[in-house]
Amino acid sequence: MKFIVYDNPKQIGDHIGKEIVDLLKRNPKAVLGLATGSSPLPVYDYLAKAYKAKEVSFKDCYSFNLDEYINPPFEEATYRYFMKENLFSRVDMDLSHTHFPSFENMDTYDDEIASMGGVDLQILGIGRDGHIGFNEPNTSFDSKTHTTPLEESTRIANARFFHSLEETPHEAITMGLGTIMQSKHIVLIASDLTKVDAIKALLKGEKDLQWPATVLLDHPSTEIFVTKEVFDEANK
Ligand code: GLP
Repeated sequence: MKFIVYDNPKQIGDHIGKEIVDLLKRNPKAVLGLATGSSPLPVYDYLAKAYKAKEVSFKDCYSFNLDEYINPPFEEATYRYFMKENLFSRVDMDLSHTHFPSFENMDTYDDEIASMGGVDLQILGIGRDGHIGFNEPNTSFDSKTHTTPLEESTRIANARFFHSLEETPHEAITMGLGTIMQSKHIVLIASDLTKVDAIKALLKGEKDLQWPATVLLDHPSTEIFVTKEVFDEANK
């Protein structure tokens, strides 16, 4: 695991965006593992710009998103909608190449990913409780795609995407920690101070079921991107 420290989230987005552009130039049919939330937005901004500048095309690549809510109250709250708004509609992504976990496909999602040759590059944000995807504390390190209840702290953090906390879903479907670990390369972004405790757990270097992201300590190719303020605070 390698820590990479930048002054601000845009620099993180530029670095990861460039990694993805380079990957798609090498392999236009690459399989991307995509994440929602605020953390990856600068990456998607970089990719939209690179597409506009004709540096890259997404038409032959594939994507598997990490997670999706169960019973979101309106379509705009789905992660599929989020991805259309923030990436797919801004580039030439073929929507038939995009995948999201659902009740219908959850038992075959891991096999589907494997049948495409596996995820080449997986983007991750991180929850304040250390969750990745929606793998909350105490999720088994070898879990596959599954349904999960959401922690109250996760619902509170995500209530900003809904009209109220009451309306915020209680459950989601997520790639498991074992699913994520199959990715060939992983980039995790922690760019705001709510993530300091989760980053502290990674810096400690011990796998801990209470901090799901610590599973990544065993991954052969993971980069952890943090802002300087997060890094300094986590090292105190
Ligand atoms: C949600 C998503 C996670 C994401 C996390 C952090 O819970 N399921 O995949 O990493 O939020 O989001 P943000 O980047 O907005 O802080």
